[in-house]
Amino acid sequence: MMEIDFVRSRFIKHFDGKTGNVYASPGRINLIGEHTDYNGGFVFPGAVDKGIMAEMRANGTEDTVMAYAIDLKDRVDFHLNDPAGPRASWARYIYGIALEMKKLGVPVKGFNIAFAGDVPLGAGMSSSAAMESCFACGLNDIFGDNKVCQWDMALAGQATEHNYCGVNCGIMDQFASVFGKAGCLMRLDCRSREFEYFPFKPDGYRLVLLDSVVKHQLAGSPYNDRRNSCENVVKHIQAKHPEGKFETLRDCTWEQLDEVRAEVGEEDYKRARFVLGEKDRVLAVCDALNEGDYEKVGELMYQTHEGLSKDYEVSCEELDFLNDIAKECGVTGSRIMGGGFGGCTINLVRNDLYRQFIATAKQKFNEKYGHEPKVYDVVIGDGSRKLC
Ligand code: GLA
Repeated sequence: MMEIDFVRSRFIKHFDGKTGNVYASPGRINLIGEHTDYNGGFVFPGAVDKGIMAEMRANGTEDTVMAYAIDLKDRVDFHLNDPAGPRASWARYIYGIALEMKKLGVPVKGFNIAFAGDVPLGAGMSSSAAMESCFACGLNDIFGDNKVCQWDMALAGQATEHNYCGVNCGIMDQFASVFGKAGCLMRLDCRSREFEYFPFKPDGYRLVLLDSVVKHQLAGSPYNDRRNSCENVVKHIQAKHPEGKFETLRDCTWEQLDEVRAEVGEEDYKRARFVLGEKDRVLAVCDALNEGDYEKVGELMYQTHEGLSKDYEVSCEELDFLNDIAKECGVTGSRIMGGGFGGCTINLVRNDLYRQFIATAKQKFNEKYGHEPKVYDVVIGDGSRKLC
């Protein structure tokens, strides 16, 4: 985690010399359950020890926000009452979450904010959810007497993506960032919103991310397209079965999917096929974890990669290459993590293979793409909180 003093010194320097309160929220990993959240399925994320830290303070104005992005050295001022909002994409997260918190009854007024992050951008580790939940936590504290509950803050973050950033994401990232707990993964049922903390200490194994450094960008992207395909399949199944209630792919069976195969076309069919399989895999991983069967967990991770690559088509050459190296090195499990189109693979590696795997991956990737992948050892950390 970053130092508070680092953020504080910038906050003091860029505004009026006064200090505010400091908040932090993490990025996330996800062991399994990809693209299932907006399909009413299960996900299995955990927060990481990297994220966003922000210092914030009410500035006494009605609606002027003065914002400084420390890492980008970029300052943007805007008005909450301006219907267009700021242009800079990072500032839109602040504008969006402020308006969403207002909708929840928080009387947000003008404020100053400076923030920095150590969660890599565009690596599929949810730097954007970390921003949303960090700013939500701050606004809730400064203007809202902390009356907004954790779920509503997570949902406000998701609504920010939908309404101001152009990404029709599910709830996994914001959920993980708000609710994270050190040492625990969380199994969330995205339909009922019930969840369970799962202490995760795989004896003899570790989790490591390999970042392809191919920037993933979800806004205006094929991400929304994937979601539309899933919704289209549900619509067709519902039309065939007016007696039933089909809200998401969670409600659909393999037989029902097969019935609409010809009408929806091969592309949508394959995408829905991936989602149905992934839904079952999350539950299978839970069973395997309960039995301490990490080899089974790993096998399921490889299946997810295969599905994300061939059926859901959210992989890229570099990620498939990293996955192949993992396989060749005998790594227990490996797959694309997060939305896809770049970013990281998540790897479940036996301790005795770790060094060899990392060295081989660096060398082979470098030979092919002219740079090494970045390596992040996963430490599962806490969710959104006030630091001081
Ligand atoms: C992104 C979205 C999430 C989820 C994942 C894929 O991270 O923000 O809601 O859909 O992709 O599992």
